[in-house]
Amino acid sequence: MQDRKNGRAAALPVAKELRCFCTSAGVDVGASAYLCNMEQLLQQIEEYKKEIAAFEAADDKQVEEFRIRFLGTKGLVKAVMGEMKQVPADQKKAFGQILNDFKLFAESRYESLREQTAATQGPAGSRIDLSLPGDPAPLGSRHPITLMRNRIVSIFQRLGFAVAEGPEIEDDWHNFGALNLPPHHPARDMQDTFYIQQNPDWVLRTHTSSVQIREMEKGKLPIRMLMPGRVYRNETVSARSHCFFHQVEGLYIDENVSFADLKQTLYFFVKEMYGKDVKVRFRPSYFPFTEPSAEMDVSCFICGGEGCNICKKTGWVEILGCGMVHPNVLQNCNIDPNKYTGFAFGMGIERPALLKYDVNDLRLFSENDVRFLKQFTSAI
Ligand code: DAH
Repeated sequence: MQDRKNGRAAALPVAKELRCFCTSAGVDVGASAYLCNMEQLLQQIEEYKKEIAAFEAADDKQVEEFRIRFLGTKGLVKAVMGEMKQVPADQKKAFGQILNDFKLFAESRYESLREQTAATQGPAGSRIDLSLPGDPAPLGSRHPITLMRNRIVSIFQRLGFAVAEGPEIEDDWHNFGALNLPPHHPARDMQDTFYIQQNPDWVLRTHTSSVQIREMEKGKLPIRMLMPGRVYRNETVSARSHCFFHQVEGLYIDENVSFADLKQTLYFFVKEMYGKDVKVRFRPSYFPFTEPSAEMDVSCFICGGEGCNICKKTGWVEILGCGMVHPNVLQNCNIDPNKYTGFAFGMGIERPALLKYDVNDLRLFSENDVRFLKQFTSAI
C-alpha cells in the first residue's frame, strides 16, 4: 500500500495479484510460475495471445467458452487489466497500451469466431427459433382504376380482343388528323388539351382513339384490339372532372364487319359487366372518325331505371361512344375501305369505377392517399 502511495510499484504486489488471477482463472501456475515482474506478465500476455489466435470454435457453445475464459467478468482480460494499478506511473502509458491491444485482440477474435459459426451453423443453429411467427409481408392493393380496367379487358379478351398500348404524348396526326379531325375542325374544341411549347405538333393525347391509328398503320389485318390508357384534357379539376382520366378503346376491322357485329359485341359486354337484366339503348351521335356514330346507354343499375341522382332522373346512364370506322380513317391508314369495314368504341373507366365502388370524388383516384387505396386490398 505504502509503495503504491509513493507512486512506485513494488514487484511483490503485482506477483500476488497475478498469482491470484492465475489461480482464480484456473491457470496452472505451477510451483515455479512466480509471476513477480512486468516481464513475466508481458510474457504471459504473449502466451494468451497465441492461445487466442489458435482458438477454434465449432459451435456457439465453444464461442461462449472463449468469451467466458477471456472476456467474461472473471476472464483473463479483466484479470490482466487489473494489473494496471500495480504499474509504476512512468510505465502506465506504455503498459496501458499493451493491455488495451490485448483486450482488442481478444475482442476481435471473439467477433470473428461468432461470425464463423453463424455462417457455418445456418438456420438450424440454436439462435433461430423456427417456431416464432414469420414477419408479415405487407399486402398491397390494386388501384380501383386498374381493377375496373382489368374487368373490362378480361370481358373483351374472351371475345378474342388483344390488348395494345400507345404513347401518351402524341403528335397531332395520330390524335386528330388521321381520325378525320383536320386542323380547325370544330370537333377539336371539345377535346382541348395540353400542347408542348417547344414542339406545337405534340399534344398530350385527348383519347385512346390515337392508338387505333397506330394499330391500323401496322398494316396487319384483321385487327381485333382493345386499347386501354390514360388521356388528358384541359379541364378544371373538380369532384366530377379532371385534367387526366382513363379510357378503353376497342377496334375490330375485317371484311364484312357490320353494325350488327358492333351491337352484339357491346350487348355481350354489358351483360357480363352489369348483369342480365340491364337494358341497352343506342342513340345516334356524331364522331368525326365513325359513320354512323352512336352513344350507348344502359338502364341505370343504381335505381333499376326508376330515376335517381346518378342517372339524373332519366333512368339511363351513358357508357360509351361507338360507330363504324369512317372510310377516311381507313384510307389514312392505307386500308382499302372497299374491302374492309370495322367498328370502334371508346369508354371512360372512371365513371363505372365511381359507380361500382361508390366513390363520390374523382380526385380520390389520383391523390395517392393510402387510407383510400387500402380499402381495395381484397378487391379483385
Ligand atoms: N374518342 C371518343 C372520346 O374520347 C370516344 C369514342 C367514340 C371512341 C366513338 C371511339 C368511337 O372509338 O368509335 O370522346
